[in-house]
Amino acid sequence: MNKAITIFFGTIVVIALSGCGDDDSSKQEVKNYKYTTAEVYEKMCAKCHGEKGEGVKKEKGPALNDQEVYELKMGITDIKMGGIGGHSSGTEHEIMEHNMQKIIEKGMDYDTDAMAQYIYENFNINK
Ligand code: HEC
Repeated sequence: MNKAITIFFGTIVVIALSGCGDDDSSKQEVKNYKYTTAEVYEKMCAKCHGEKGEGVKKEKGPALNDQEVYELKMGITDIKMGGIGGHSSGTEHEIMEHNMQKIIEKGMDYDTDAMAQYIYENFNINK
């Protein structure tokens, strides 16, 4: 009888422990983005900001090819944080924030620093 109880509780402990092992919510900071920055730009940003960051008047997307890396970083970080319901510094990025939700839904999430770098390296007209 005692032995059976020990096995019974022992089994519960094992199940509880293995349950913890399967829970990987603690690893969420480590992200693997599904698409490269270039792919995301082409698919999700070019429509409004132009193939080369020159801006698209029809979509009211401002040119990004005259901004410094730090300006891009600030803008993009603000948009991303605001779009996922986090803190936004209160700039006018409503269109972009709405857009960010769609981007994430489509699995097109991206690294903000890498995106700023990509736009600057490839499109900047002042460097
Ligand atoms: C539906 C059109 C649209 C798409 C798609 C879009 N943007 Fe924008 N973006 C805008 C508009 C309009 C603004 C200016 C007003 C605003 O921010 O809401 C803007 C502003 C910005 C700014 C700030 C520029 C400034 O001068 O302050 C950055 C940076 C930016 N977008 C980057 C991106 C990136 C990166 C992507 C792709 C992940 C993207 N945008 C996709 C329309 C778009």
